[in-house]
Amino acid sequence: MSWFFAPFYDRFMRASEEACLISWRKELLAKASGKTLEIGAGTGANLDSYPAHIQDLTLLEPDNAMRGLLEKRIASGSFKATICANSATELPFPDNHFDTVLCTLVLCSIPDQHRALQEIKRVLKPGGCFLFLEHGAAPEDSSRLNWQRRLEPLWKIFAGGCRLTRRADKDIEGSGLIIEEIQRESMRKALPITRPTVRGLARKAL
Ligand SMILES: C[S@@+](CC[C@H](N)C(=O)[O-])C[C@H]1O[C@@H](n2cnc3c(N)ncnc32)[C@H](O)[C@@H]1O
Repeated sequence: MSWFFAPFYDRFMRASEEACLISWRKELLAKASGKTLEIGAGTGANLDSYPAHIQDLTLLEPDNAMRGLLEKRIASGSFKATICANSATELPFPDNHFDTVLCTLVLCSIPDQHRALQEIKRVLKPGGCFLFLEHGAAPEDSSRLNWQRRLEPLWKIFAGGCRLTRRADKDIEGSGLIIEEIQRESMRKALPITRPTVRGLARKAL
């Protein structure tokens, strides 16, 4: 995330948070259990949504500006978490380590999302779950997808490398994780190019 965008991120997202994201985050995180890793935790938008039974939480955030805001939020709240500055493409954890890995609005920003998903699968325990909430490409042949393609090169520069035309569900399936639950919905009060979303649960095979 560009250093100049981080301070505005929460304000930029507020309308969508209130319209839908807060409730989607709560619903998704209710499915977390055990030792949990959040990838690209940003400013800590998920912190209020973790259920009380999550007591072993690691937050990964490689961007200095975002991580600074995350550390402030942790210091001023009652959250207990370990913060880690590594990239999702090189996770500093052993194989089969976490019960839950979580990503919200992150796979769009990781330059090599395929490698990140392989790492996520590696650190998940067999049977462990990957929870995701991602925005992405509009349906094929839609005019929205044409606009996403046109605007992506410029958008990427101003939005911390965020791509508009990825299909997280296809990428997750391609990684070998097994999608068990998926919902597709429009992110309300968001720019039209970032509205299509998918969220759900994928599992690492036993
Ligand atoms: C749009 S923000 C989302 C923040 C937060 N997860 C949320 O739901 O609001 C994308 C985040 O992905 C992080 N990110 C980008 N590349 C990454 C990588 N290689 N590994 C881990 N996180 C990454 C960025 O630093 C940024 O904090």
